[in-house]
Amino acid sequence: MKYFKRLAVTAFAAAAFSLGASSLLEAQEAPPGDAGNGKRLYLADGCFTCHGRSGQGGAFNGPAPSLAKTDMPFDGFKAQLRDPANDMPAYSTAVVSDQEIADMYAFVQSLPGARSAKDISILND
Ligand code: HEC
Repeated sequence: MKYFKRLAVTAFAAAAFSLGASSLLEAQEAPPGDAGNGKRLYLADGCFTCHGRSGQGGAFNGPAPSLAKTDMPFDGFKAQLRDPANDMPAYSTAVVSDQEIADMYAFVQSLPGARSAKDISILND
């Protein structure tokens, strides 16, 4: 009986783990986005006013983080737009659709981001 119980618990844990793992995988996959349209939206929706034209980051009441080549998963990126952590204005579905967020996500990931100091010659003279 004890053995059976342990087996059942193990089977349950394995099932729960594999369910969890598969939803985790899904969460990491970003829907395909059109970076060109994302660029247009990034400018039209005013993201650039705080995060910079190159996604280099900037300031609002506090720092607006760099978005170029963000390693934020798509779900987190979308959650920040729908329900911002702090000072950033929210973007509801009436303003930007999920597809439009995917387009902006593709755009910010296509940006080159900051160069390292050793690649900037004047800093190495
Ligand atoms: C008025 C200034 C402002 C505008 C406009 C703005 N943001 Fe932000 N954003 C911020 C600030 C400030 C933060 C830091 C967190 C917070 O305050 O919510 C932030 C955080 C973020 C983050 C989280 C980044 C991280 O690494 O934690 C993402 C993603 C983001 N913004 C995307 C966007 C996008 C896309 C747009 C346009 C649709 C946009 N933001 C428009 C100010 C702004």
